[in-house]
Amino acid sequence: RQQQRQLVIGISQLGDADAWRKEMKAEMDRELVFNPDLRIIYRQAGYNSQTQVQQIRELVKKKIDLLIVSPNEASPLTPIIDSVYKSGIPVITVDRNINSGSYTSFIGADNIEVGRLAGTYAADFLGQKGSIIEITGLQSSTPARQREKGFADAMAAFPQINVQVIRGDWLEGSVQQQLPALTDQLRNTQLIFAHNDVMANTAATICRQLGFPGIRIIGVDAQPGTGLTFVEHKTLLASVLYPTGGGEAIRAAARILHKQEVPKRDFLRTIIVDSTNVVMLQQQFNKVIAQQKDIVRQDLLLKSQAKTFRTQKNLIGVLLGT
Ligand code: FRU
Repeated sequence: RQQQRQLVIGISQLGDADAWRKEMKAEMDRELVFNPDLRIIYRQAGYNSQTQVQQIRELVKKKIDLLIVSPNEASPLTPIIDSVYKSGIPVITVDRNINSGSYTSFIGADNIEVGRLAGTYAADFLGQKGSIIEITGLQSSTPARQREKGFADAMAAFPQINVQVIRGDWLEGSVQQQLPALTDQLRNTQLIFAHNDVMANTAATICRQLGFPGIRIIGVDAQPGTGLTFVEHKTLLASVLYPTGGGEAIRAAARILHKQEVPKRDFLRTIIVDSTNVVMLQQQFNKVIAQQKDIVRQDLLLKSQAKTFRTQKNLIGVLLGT
């Protein structure tokens, strides 16, 4: 009997050393349990755009049926993703995007909305006046540009709030290098908005070390174990929930590969998490994680039973000489 060919999804992740991207991969793996006809080839590029371009070329050589990609930077990744898409391989972009429309579906939260939510919350907290330092993500990546735009859009309504922007790169080193040099400005700063929880948490540590424990900090991501815990412990004033889209990406891939429709853009939900809703959110996350672990356990059990069954069948075959 001929086995049905598994469809192959190439996954090009820009890097996976941080907790948020580990969570994205875990969500993908959990969703794959429901799709035994799909197989993945996974590559992570260590946060390097050239490496990522190279890895996408190699994935294409392996004859993938679909590409899921979270592109490190928009400009360096656009040409290769353009060419993959134009060659007829469906492309799903997740979280970060490219400069062209060469993708079948984009999955992620609306980052302009993320910036806007943070801005409105900050203005409200400050009573519409004061000084803010904004620490951006990597400028060449789309979420940083869009979060900055959304934040600026919100701030336009509050002329008595002054915002100083410093350029981070999503990682803690960029904050460690720049923030201590701004001690004078920090004296007059009431709030910091950092584009992710990694940089927000680093900013909190530095503010404490420099003697400014009163500066309140807002981050983005709000994932269990990191951002949610920082908000729960009041290290952060708030964080904007930024779902990873890992599960949704696999579901969209399955639909595309089974010739079903998908929207060009699928915006995931985002909300502000602060002390008023953090515990409820954590409980919801815990419930989902427990259910998913259960599903994975049952899947393993079924596979091991199937294996036992095959072994027994073979054994019987040997005994009967068939
Ligand atoms: C993880 C991360 C997140 C951020 C996202 C933006 O690598 O830096 O913290 O929200 O990427 O693309």
